[in-house]
Amino acid sequence: MDARFQKRVQRYGWDKAAAHYERSWQAQLDPAQTALLEMAGLVPGERVLDVACGTGRFLRAVRLAYPAMKLSGLDLSRPYLDEARRHLKGLRPVEWIAANAESIPLPDASQDIVTTVFLFHELPPDVRRRVTAEMARVLKPGGLLVFIDSLQMGDRPGWDGLLEAFPARFHEPYYRHYAIDDLDGVFSEAGLEAAQQATAFLAKMMVRRKVG
Ligand SMILES: C[S@@+](CC[C@H](N)C(=O)[O-])C[C@H]1O[C@@H](n2cnc3c(N)ncnc32)[C@H](O)[C@@H]1O
Repeated sequence: MDARFQKRVQRYGWDKAAAHYERSWQAQLDPAQTALLEMAGLVPGERVLDVACGTGRFLRAVRLAYPAMKLSGLDLSRPYLDEARRHLKGLRPVEWIAANAESIPLPDASQDIVTTVFLFHELPPDVRRRVTAEMARVLKPGGLLVFIDSLQMGDRPGWDGLLEAFPARFHEPYYRHYAIDDLDGVFSEAGLEAAQQATAFLAKMMVRRKVG
């Protein structure tokens, strides 16, 4: 399928899923997001951008733990951003950005931490690379990318069969390539060096530091 058409189909799916997303993914996301919060080593006052923030679950957790953090949430889907606004209502404001992560409308070296949770398995290989370059661009030198997505093949070898079955049961056209993609190479190519890595249930977390 043509990649632009694919993106429109997927985007319609994301928009439609916004209201139901929370319930279906809660159990999967909770342990990974708790670990992510710990790995990010957040410091009050820092600027954090969550790329593909969805319904704002992660930003809500950050806001509750660190009321003074300067938070931005970016997502392609306005219905998801509407859910996120509702989800964080009554808490200190977050900057909501409706935009494609391939072209982040923020200045170079403006963020201390960029997080992204369960985005990459949704993206075609070339888009994964463009989004990575954008996340690296907006990070300050020494800033951190904190990444969570599905396990990849070989992360927990006994579970590879499960990862193979996933795209056959769900409409996830780019998952199969994601599962074997060289994320270490993708991040290194963008000037993001390895800092930490861990797995939590079906998720993997990677922390990368911007060189410089
Ligand atoms: C599986 S959801 C993850 C949402 C959230 N990070 C979480 O963990 O709950 C994927 C999200 O990626 C967003 N998305 C997909 N492609 C995008 C792109 N190119 N730019 C920005 N957001 C995108 C979708 O709108 C959706 O909110």
